[in-house]
Amino acid sequence: MPSRLRVTAIISLVFSALVLSGCSAALHPATTLNDDGDLLQALGDQDERVTQSLAVPTTLVPKVVAPVVAPPAPDEPAVNCAKAKCVALTFDDGPGKYTDRLLDVLAKAKVPATFYLLGQNVGNYPQTVARMVKEGHQLGNHTYDHPSITRLTKAQLKKQIGATNAAVKKASGVVPTTFRPPYGAHNSVTDKLVATPLLLWDVDTLDWQHHDPAKTIKIAMQEVHSGSVILMHDIHETSVQAVPKLVTQLHKDGYTLVTVDDLFAGQSFKKSTAYTRRSTR
Ligand code: NI
Repeated sequence: MPSRLRVTAIISLVFSALVLSGCSAALHPATTLNDDGDLLQALGDQDERVTQSLAVPTTLVPKVVAPVVAPPAPDEPAVNCAKAKCVALTFDDGPGKYTDRLLDVLAKAKVPATFYLLGQNVGNYPQTVARMVKEGHQLGNHTYDHPSITRLTKAQLKKQIGATNAAVKKASGVVPTTFRPPYGAHNSVTDKLVATPLLLWDVDTLDWQHHDPAKTIKIAMQEVHSGSVILMHDIHETSVQAVPKLVTQLHKDGYTLVTVDDLFAGQSFKKSTAYTRRSTR
C-alpha cells in the first residue's frame, strides 16, 4: 500500500475507534484532514487529549485506540435504591480547609457524597468545588452565610439561594439541584420559595458538637437504615477523620453509598418539598 494511503487508512481507523468509544463529542464536527493527512494541523488545539493521541508514532496506534469505558448515563444510576440498601453521606457548611482531604478519602474508597455548600465559602475554594463535580459528587445549596431562613424576608431568602447558586456555578459550571436549610429550620412559607427539593436528614451524627470520630461512626451505624441520609460537616477535621472507617463499616453492612439524586431516583422528589430520607416500603 502506498504510504499516503496507509496513513489515511490508519487515520480512518483512529477516527472510527474514537467515535465508537464515545470520544466523538471531543471532536469538532467540522474537523477535516488536509491533503497531507496532517492531523495536528487539522485538529488545531480543540482537544489536547485527542491531539496527543494522534501525534504518537503509527506503530503505537493500536494501543492509542484501546476502548474507553464510557461512564454510566446520568439518568441511569448504577444502583437501584428501590432494591439495594442505599445511603447518602452529606457534608454541610463547606468547602473548608479539610475538604480536599475528604475528597482524597472518598476517591480512595470510590464512593460519592453530596456537599451542601455555603455560598460565602465557595469563592475561597473554587478548585475544590470544581473537583467535587469532576469526581462524581453532588452539590447542594446551604444558603450564602447560614442564616435561619424562617427569619428572612422573601427577598432575603431568594438572595441567599440565588447568590449561592451563582457562586457554585461560577466555580464548577453546575447549579445545585437540592437545598438544605441551615439548622434544618424551614416552614410552609419558606418551602414555597425554594425551587428545588429541600433535603434534610434522618441520621444526625452531631459531629460538630462532640468532635469525636469514634462517636460519629457509632451514631451513624446505630441510626442508619436503607434509604438514610447521614449528616456530617467537612469543615471539622475530626469529621473527615471518621470517614474512612465509616465507609468501611457501611460497606460491611451491605450499604451502597450514593448521591442524593441517586438515593431518590425513581420516587417522588419534588420542589418546595422537604425530605429526610428515601421512603421504603
Ligand atoms: Ni449548616
